[in-house]
Amino acid sequence: MRQDILDYLMENQGTFVSGQKISELFGISRTAVWKHIRVLKQRGYVIESYTKKGYCLKEAPELLRPEQIANGLKTGLFGKKIVYFEKVDSTNTVAKRLADQGADEGTIVVAEEQTGGRGRLDRSFISPFAQGIWFSLILRPTFPPMEVSKLTLVAAVALTKVLRRAGLIHCGIKWPNDILVGDKKLVGILTELNASVEKINYVVMGIGINTALGKKALPRELKKTVTSFAIENVPVQRVELLQDVLRELERYYDVAGEQGFAPILEEWKVLSCMLGRDVEVSASDRSFTGKAVTLDENGNLMVETANGMERVLAGDVRV
Ligand code: BTN
Repeated sequence: MRQDILDYLMENQGTFVSGQKISELFGISRTAVWKHIRVLKQRGYVIESYTKKGYCLKEAPELLRPEQIANGLKTGLFGKKIVYFEKVDSTNTVAKRLADQGADEGTIVVAEEQTGGRGRLDRSFISPFAQGIWFSLILRPTFPPMEVSKLTLVAAVALTKVLRRAGLIHCGIKWPNDILVGDKKLVGILTELNASVEKINYVVMGIGINTALGKKALPRELKKTVTSFAIENVPVQRVELLQDVLRELERYYDVAGEQGFAPILEEWKVLSCMLGRDVEVSASDRSFTGKAVTLDENGNLMVETANGMERVLAGDVRV
């Protein structure tokens, strides 16, 4: 029903249509019309409404429809197959299901909105309608399962390059999976693995990039720690950004496959915003503070503490 109302407003974009007319056309009450309009406004549709004149659609958010993503996509494999949802619980959950059923490497699952977006350490990830790019990429790498954590670093390098080109010139990587702008998080990466001891079956790489996310959508505790293109006042087109991200992810994934991870780890160090800074580390079994100094050859974070050098394989690191 909401889609029907939206289609009708789109056909009449720029002119006012009365609530009465819409209610008669679709056989619903005027209150029901008003409720649908309210949801559309929450989703980023700019709809003017006046009691006497009715409703007028002024602006629609840019959607990530597969035909738009495919148009001008310059990759060999990544994003060549697209599974699209307006609303889904988590694109990672769907991608894992598809990968279990044999989906090809490079397939992406994209959603305008996630109702159960997930982050690392069982945290939730806020993903409102059209306010970010929420997607998951299916990979079937041939390297050993031990190496998989390096893939997150590969993604972080590719993403940081794209975001800097898009105007966020000061963004940097926080180990292992966030991209920050001035200590506030703009991107999160959740890499999930399905493997046996010796072989990776698949990896699902879930990426969330806050584009139009406004402070209003954020709970109070996140207002000081999360940012977006909109909050940073940097205009961005979601389709173009996603195409660029897919191209750069593919490029760096190919470099890792052909030359190994060493050259990418070197780039990571240059693009990091945490090396040389004091950090607080909370791992499952211990917590400590120290200075983040470098990455080892496996992508673990090396932290210099009062008691010597610590190697961080997993956990939460705060700057
Ligand atoms: C984190 O911040 O710890 C990682 C966040 C990853 C969020 C993305 S959004 C698309 C994909 N689907 C999810 O449920 N999570 C990832």
